[in-house]
Amino acid sequence: MPLPRQEDMPDGRGVLVKVLRVGLDGTDREIIAGQYGATPSGYNFLVLGHENLGVVEQVGPGVHEFALGDHVVAMVRHPGNSPYDAMGIPDMTTDDIYYEHGISRLHGFLTEYYADTPECLVRTPQRLGEAAVLLEPASIIEKGIMQAYEIQRRLRIWRPQHAAVLGAGPVGLLATLALRLRGLDVVTLALTEPPSLNADLVAALGARHLSTRRTGLTAASNAFGPFDIIFEATGFSPLVFEAMETLGKNGVLVLSSVTGGGRKVEVPADAINLGFVLGNKVMLGTVNANREHFEAALKDLVMAEAQYPGWLSRLLTNRVTGLENYRLALELLDATPRPIKVFVEVAGE
Ligand code: BGC
Ligand code: ZN
Repeated sequence: MPLPRQEDMPDGRGVLVKVLRVGLDGTDREIIAGQYGATPSGYNFLVLGHENLGVVEQVGPGVHEFALGDHVVAMVRHPGNSPYDAMGIPDMTTDDIYYEHGISRLHGFLTEYYADTPECLVRTPQRLGEAAVLLEPASIIEKGIMQAYEIQRRLRIWRPQHAAVLGAGPVGLLATLALRLRGLDVVTLALTEPPSLNADLVAALGARHLSTRRTGLTAASNAFGPFDIIFEATGFSPLVFEAMETLGKNGVLVLSSVTGGGRKVEVPADAINLGFVLGNKVMLGTVNANREHFEAALKDLVMAEAQYPGWLSRLLTNRVTGLENYRLALELLDATPRPIKVFVEVAGE
């Protein structure tokens, strides 16, 4: 790839960013397997990488938002053509074609440098260090939770107490964190049995880790619910229907798993429907995140460092040093047991 130039951005508003860290996730795994993603026009390949952290190296004369040395995270989706894109909320686009760095039609951040405009960047405090590479995945969770709270304003006095998080991968763990920071009593259900780092990380937040091999969601709800909010992040879609059934009255179910497969299940349709109607329940799907969610997620990360020092860094389990070791990164992504977070140290400062 040619070295990007700050000067190539319009109106002197270019920012040249040196990439420091890039995190990998299930979306990268799907793209590598050829099940998802799209190349930019004019290319027959896609530069991967959407979870990112970099440092500002150059700014154009029209940039007042950032200074040299600032740590920045780039947002993943660029605006398309729908009214929502025009309003600065491209995460809510109704376009069929969408533009996401490292995922869809835009090259990603597994590269030494990128150039972008201030509108696409979020500054992170230096004190957060490399944990700021978790801002992008945290923004996804933040959006789901913020939308749930927004929808629940229908209840005038919604005071959620009990939450269930389904999945204890990076998304499940960050969702557990976000809900604990909001003061909820959280049960996190996962396939794996303790002892595991995932279970330790859940416990460190004062949440309860349950192995679904022992306690299913319905049993968890009987013991620790009813759940006012359920956040689904397992990638296993049949669980959604059990969550719909289990969700408490006036509750909200947030779905965040991108499930590209073709799985079919039989469900107790009448019972689920009846429960939803008589219980005034809500279910929402959520994808991507806009600036508002990145900024809210940043506050959560900073709070996390204050309240649970070192917890975020424990998520960064598998460091791969140097872009040249990309093969190792891809292998780790597929390893069993699944590492919590594989990330590439592209460069030091
Ligand atoms: C990314 C999101 C993106 C979604 C769907 C996720 O892995 O973090 O930014 O919107 O994939 O492409
Ligand atoms: Zn992602």
